[in-house]
Amino acid sequence: MTATRTSEPAIRVRGIEKSFKDLHVLRGVDFDVKAGSIFALLGSNGAGKTTVVRILSTLLKADAGTATVSGFDVAAKPNDVRESISLTGQFAAVDEVLTGRENLVLVAKLRHLKDPGAIADELLDRFSLTEAGGRKAGTYSGGMRRRLDISMSLIGNPPIIFLDEPTTGLDPQARIDVWQTVKKLAEGGTTVLLTTQYLDEAEQLADRIAILHKGTIIQNGTLAELKQLLPAAKVEYVEKQPSLEDVFLALVGETGETDAAAETETAGKELR
Ligand SMILES: Nc1ncnc2c1ncn2[C@@H]1O[C@H](COP(=O)(O)OP(=O)(O)O)[C@@H](O)[C@H]1O
Ligand SMILES: [Mg+2]
Repeated sequence: MTATRTSEPAIRVRGIEKSFKDLHVLRGVDFDVKAGSIFALLGSNGAGKTTVVRILSTLLKADAGTATVSGFDVAAKPNDVRESISLTGQFAAVDEVLTGRENLVLVAKLRHLKDPGAIADELLDRFSLTEAGGRKAGTYSGGMRRRLDISMSLIGNPPIIFLDEPTTGLDPQARIDVWQTVKKLAEGGTTVLLTTQYLDEAEQLADRIAILHKGTIIQNGTLAELKQLLPAAKVEYVEKQPSLEDVFLALVGETGETDAAAETETAGKELR
């Protein structure tokens, strides 16, 4: 590899394959994530999103292909990869008996950082949890808990963060809070790879969206690029751009429609 660390993508995935017994979940997955960007891996339940995240965070070995994170090969340099990342899973790793602040102090101590109290206070402030910091995390709402979970994963300032379905199970207001948190992270220079099954989440947050379907990335682009895959449908005098949902359904065909059928549907709207 001749490229310098800074010109490399933060994450590079090439030809990753993974099977569980007879189940060929990943069949050659390729994508790059630019440093400092938010990248959404979008797919239905069971598409293999968590499997990708587990491979990239060195929790699981791929059967074939290569991946580098922060320039380090996940198979050859797992320790270097782990030092560059943090992972927030779908199920919050918060200790409910401890207060929010105690949870943060504990993680900072486990990471042998100086002044765990100051680190905890800074994170509570950054995630609007200062007032709740002295309360047991078991009393937090879903959104507060998720924000605490994300803030815990930021201790030690990892340059890359994996968020596996960060808002699954949250109410609408909590989702918006988490979205703002994620946006702030990226503004601060952190690279974010998130997985989601929610089209609006990808639409709201991501600089790039990759659709994982039947084991491969079937599309990868900015929201604008994905929307260009479908013609704008005209309804009376108002031009309606296709939503990400239209694009997703046309590509994935969950409704049983082929691309041609989707176009007929669009044409139908024009006539109405
Ligand atoms: N450890 C495992 N053993 C067997 N099957 C698994 C294992 N992990 C995941 N799978 C299967 O692989 C498929 C993809 O799972 P996953 O990556 O969790 O999907 P997603 O996160 O997109 O919902 C699913 O069918 C799931 O049941
Ligand atoms: Mg998953």
